[in-house]
Amino acid sequence: MFLVFPDSTAIAAHLSARLQDIIRQDPQATLGLATGGTMEPIYARFVQDVRANGLDVSKINSFNLDEYVGLSGQHEQSYAHYMQQHLFSQLPFEAAHLHLPNGLTTELEQHCQEYSAAIAACGGVALQLLGVGTNGHIGFNEPGTPFDSGTHVVALSERTRIDNSRFFDSMDEVPASAITMGIADILSAREIALVVTGEHKARTMLNYQEGGVTPELPFTALKQHANAHILLDEAAASLLDPSLCHRPLISQAA
Ligand code: GLP
Repeated sequence: MFLVFPDSTAIAAHLSARLQDIIRQDPQATLGLATGGTMEPIYARFVQDVRANGLDVSKINSFNLDEYVGLSGQHEQSYAHYMQQHLFSQLPFEAAHLHLPNGLTTELEQHCQEYSAAIAACGGVALQLLGVGTNGHIGFNEPGTPFDSGTHVVALSERTRIDNSRFFDSMDEVPASAITMGIADILSAREIALVVTGEHKARTMLNYQEGGVTPELPFTALKQHANAHILLDEAAASLLDPSLCHRPLISQAA
């Protein structure tokens, strides 16, 4: 079942409310965070709501999905920089609780193992936010990634590098590889919210609906998760079977 909202603003309000519920229930909850344009309205709404509601976020833990190899956290296109800009600098988080893969580590293999272990040591992810690439990648798990993968280094596909080149001055500057949480890490979350917005993702979603469960479309791994929700705007849902689309009643409450 697909949850279809009028627009990205409505999805942001819904997920901000869900994130706040989780934090109210467990102030030390571990959140799985994502980057990309899809997440920007969600973080903006969450920041606004947390401030308005005076919610304490100082004890939560977070793990980001991925980071480019070779970019420092100061680089404007690093995901560390993105997270600082859109979320971490906006609310009184405890910096030591906020985790991203380190794109500059020289001990890549060891770092990846430690990253997966650290997620487990924090009690696992309560809610994993996810976007999707047009080729169906989640995090940076490109087509062909085994579903039992932990955090690992990936060579980025040409499709992904082209999609992400809009953020860089030239194609040459788009990193060739990244560190990503694996599909097994993602599936270990107790709840997953995959957010898909925009007409350019409509065909990606049709592939999800029509495909089985296949590593060639990494996001189809979510079909094996008991508590994964797919939230779409009308544009991204435009090619889906209407009988599979549920339109939740929209509440303005945060
Ligand atoms: C990148 C990230 C993914 C993200 C995807 C889609 O490749 N590694 O985690 O889901 O972009 O980004 P956008 O939301 O900008 O479409």
